[in-house]
Amino acid sequence: MRHHRILVCGGGGFIGRYVVDRLAARVASVVVPTRRRDRVKQLIVLPTAEVVDADVHDPVVLGRLIADCDAVINLVGILHGNYPPAANAPYGSRFLQAHVELPRRIVASCEKHGVRRLLHVSALGADSKGPSMYLRSKGDGERVVQSSSTVETTIFRPSVVFGRDDRFLNLFARMAPWMPVMAVGRPEARFQPIWVGDVASAIVNSLDELETHGRTYELCGPGIYTLGDLVRFASRASGHPRPVIGLPDSVAKAMAWVFEHLLGEPVMSRDNLDSLSVDCIASRQPYWPAPELGVRPTPMEPEAMLYLAGLHPRTRYSGFRARARR
Ligand SMILES: NC(=O)c1ccc[n+]([C@@H]2O[C@H](COP(=O)([O-])OP(=O)(O)OC[C@H]3O[C@@H](n4cnc5c(N)ncnc54)[C@H](OP(=O)(O)O)[C@@H]3O)[C@@H](O)[C@H]2O)c1
Repeated sequence: MRHHRILVCGGGGFIGRYVVDRLAARVASVVVPTRRRDRVKQLIVLPTAEVVDADVHDPVVLGRLIADCDAVINLVGILHGNYPPAANAPYGSRFLQAHVELPRRIVASCEKHGVRRLLHVSALGADSKGPSMYLRSKGDGERVVQSSSTVETTIFRPSVVFGRDDRFLNLFARMAPWMPVMAVGRPEARFQPIWVGDVASAIVNSLDELETHGRTYELCGPGIYTLGDLVRFASRASGHPRPVIGLPDSVAKAMAWVFEHLLGEPVMSRDNLDSLSVDCIASRQPYWPAPELGVRPTPMEPEAMLYLAGLHPRTRYSGFRARARR
């Protein structure tokens, strides 16, 4: 490859681990800063990956990491922040720091150290005037990345991403055994789920591909599903088929408020519900990824069956049967 030493911010996350795995086989070295080295053991064993304990929000630390590389991939992202933001603010400090300030510092540091390539992962629907703090901050982050005149940038906007360790289909599959019915807010919201391996391949393939410079790519799978369809599918795949009922917005928001006030990451926040007010599907249908990304989108059901089915002995072999069309 033309690039030899790549910094992958957010490389220890769900999508990042696939990106690092694919990159590590193709470049001389991949540097992965993380706050929790113990959780990325699978990357530590890759001979060309260097996992380092580092705070990427510290400009000196970030500068040192970037100066030593010839390309940067930024996957840092969060799903939840304080709700609602302070009066007149489009989002709170957590979104500002992760989705806007960090990209700003990455761009500035690339410019300072002469690093000419930056790949940035945003989200489908990112829009500075979007309905949620998540989407507004992602939109502002894109604008920061696009503002550089010296760094060649490519932005990726995935729809919801599924894969063995996802926190979306797995969440519903794990909830199903405990729920007689699955009650969700905005069950009519539409998604076009993409497999994590396809997202990672698109990112890695674009690194050296001149045609991707300055472009923004939506990343979607071949099928469109409502949230209700996805919850039904996940519960069925886990061996606990459940009916799905839609909650009125006021009840869904009240439940989300409760989740936000429990310990740990909320399963659903009020801001997530705001994001669901716009469909998370490609702007042009039928969707097909740009050929320069070198990806053929994987259908969701057979792939997701493989790992969701593993949660329950009765469906352990459904994924293999689905793949074999039996
Ligand atoms: N998963 C999806 O369905 C989906 C859909 C659309 C867009 N995206 C975007 O794709 C990107 C990757 O998503 P993912 O699902 O892989 O997320 P993830 O598993 O939560 O990983 C996020 C990564 O960001 C880092 N990170 C999070 N908060 C941070 C903070 N405050 N400071 C420094 N680092 C921080 C984490 O680093 P540590 O290793 O230090 O924990 C982690 O490696 C994100 O930008 C996300 O918004 C994801």
